[in-house]
Amino acid sequence: MNKIYGVILGAGEGTRMKSCLPKVLHKVAGKELISCVIDCLNSAVKMQKLVVVVGSGSDLVIKHLEKYKADHVFQKERLGSAHALLQAKNKFKNIDGQLIVMCGDTPLVQSKTIKDLLKFHNKNKNHATVLSGMVENPFGYGRIVRDAKGAVKCIVEEKSATEEEKRIKEINSGIYCFDLKVLWKALNKVDNKNNKKEYYLTDVIEILNKDGYKTDAVALTTEEEILGVNDRKQLAVAEQILRERKNNELMANGVTIVDPKTTYIDSDVVIGQDTIIKPNTIIEGKTKIGKNCIVGPDTTIMDSQIEESVFITYSYIEESEIEKGVKIGPFAHIRPKSVLKQNVKVGNFSEVKKSVVGQGSKVNHLSYIGDAIVGKDVNIGAGTITCNYDGKNKFQTVIQDDVFVGSNVNLVAPVNIGKKVLIAAGSTITDDVLPNKLTIARARQIVKVRKK
Ligand code: UD1
Ligand code: CA
Repeated sequence: MNKIYGVILGAGEGTRMKSCLPKVLHKVAGKELISCVIDCLNSAVKMQKLVVVVGSGSDLVIKHLEKYKADHVFQKERLGSAHALLQAKNKFKNIDGQLIVMCGDTPLVQSKTIKDLLKFHNKNKNHATVLSGMVENPFGYGRIVRDAKGAVKCIVEEKSATEEEKRIKEINSGIYCFDLKVLWKALNKVDNKNNKKEYYLTDVIEILNKDGYKTDAVALTTEEEILGVNDRKQLAVAEQILRERKNNELMANGVTIVDPKTTYIDSDVVIGQDTIIKPNTIIEGKTKIGKNCIVGPDTTIMDSQIEESVFITYSYIEESEIEKGVKIGPFAHIRPKSVLKQNVKVGNFSEVKKSVVGQGSKVNHLSYIGDAIVGKDVNIGAGTITCNYDGKNKFQTVIQDDVFVGSNVNLVAPVNIGKKVLIAAGSTITDDVLPNKLTIARARQIVKVRKK
C-alpha cells in the first residue's frame, strides 16, 4: 500500500469574503471551513502527514490548527495555487507516495468521495487525478478540457477560457491526487503567463501530460459537494447544505425533527434515538443530547451535555450539564457551568448560572440562582434571588438538602442554609441558618387605622 499525504491550500486572501477574518476560519454549520476539510481528509484516509499552506491571517489559522495533527508552511506572497503548493515541497523531501491536495474553502466534500478518488487514481495507475464535477453553471470554476478521445488535455481557468471552453460543464473541484514522485518537477515548470499573473496549480496537468505522465479527471460526486466558498452567498449555500445533511443523518438514526427547515444543528452535535426536536431550535457546538428527549420549540442549546429523557422547551442553555429526567422551561436560561442533577425542574423565567442544582430540586418561577450549590429536593419559591454580587466580587450560596425557600426570598451571599430549613416568604437572609430551623427575616406586618 502506498503511503498517503495531504496538503490543504489555505493561504488565499479570500478577497471576495470582504472580511477581516481569514476565509478558512469562517464557519459553516458551526465549523470552520478548514476544519471541515481536515475532518473530511482524516476520516477518509490515514495520512502520514498533513500540511496546511497558510498566508493571509496566518497567526489565527496557525492557532486554530493547534488542535489538529497538522503541520503548516507559510506562503509569503499570494502568487497562486501552484506557488502555494510549492511552499510545502520541503516537507516532502525524499518522500514517495500519494498526495491529496484540497483547497481550504470546499467544506462540503465527503470522505467517501476522497476514498473513491484515491481508488480511481490507483486502479488506473495515474500520476495525477483531478476530482471533477458536472455542473449546470460552471461559471468561475476551472474547466476540464478533453481531447477527441476523451483524454484530459488541460484545465482552463474562467478568465483564460475561450467562449467554447466556457461552455464545458465539467469543472475542476480543486481536489487532486498526485504521485509525489512526479509532482514537484512539474510544479516547478508552472509559469504565471496568464491574465491574472498567477501560478495556477491547474496548469500542472497539462505539463504532466506533455512529459508523458498519465493524468485524468473523474466526476465522482454531485455539484453541491464540490462547492467552493468564495463569498458570503456561497457561505450561506454551504451552510444550508450542511444543515440539511446533518438533519437527514439524525433522522436516519432515529431522531424526529418536526420541521427540518427551521432546525439548525451543528455538524458535531450528537443526538440519541427517539429524541424529538421541535421547530425553531438551534443546537450548537459540542452538544450531546441523549435518547428520548423532547427539545423545543424555540430553544437554543450550546456546548452542553444533556442526558436522556430530558424535556426542554422555549429555553436557552449554554455550556451546562443536564442530567436524566430534567425539565427545563418554558422560558429558562441556563448559563455556563451549571449542572442540573436528575429530575430537576427549572422554568417560567428562571435563570441558573454557574450553579449545581441537586436531584429533584425545583426552581420553577421567576428566580435567579447564581454561584450556588443547591442540595437535593430543595424547593426554591417564586421570585427567589441569590444576591451573589456586590459590584466587585461574586460570592457563593449553599442551600442544603430538603430546604424549603418561600417566595420572594433574597439570599445574600456568602450564606449557608442548613438541611431541612424553612425560609419564610419575603425574607432577606444575610446570616447562615443551622439545619432544621425556621427562619423569618422580614419586617412584621402592622395594621393601622386608615385615615379618610
Ligand atoms: C480554484 C481552481 C479552479 C477550481 C476552483 C474550485 C486554480 C488556479 N483554480 O479556483 O480550477 O475550479 O478552485 O473551487 O487553482 N490559494 C493559496 N495561495 C494562493 C492562491 C490560492 O493558498 O496564492 C488557495 C486558496 O486559499 C484556496 C485555493 O488555493 O483555498 C484556491 O484558490 P482560489 O483563489 O479560491 O481559487 P478559485 O478561483 O476558487
Ligand atoms: Ca475557491
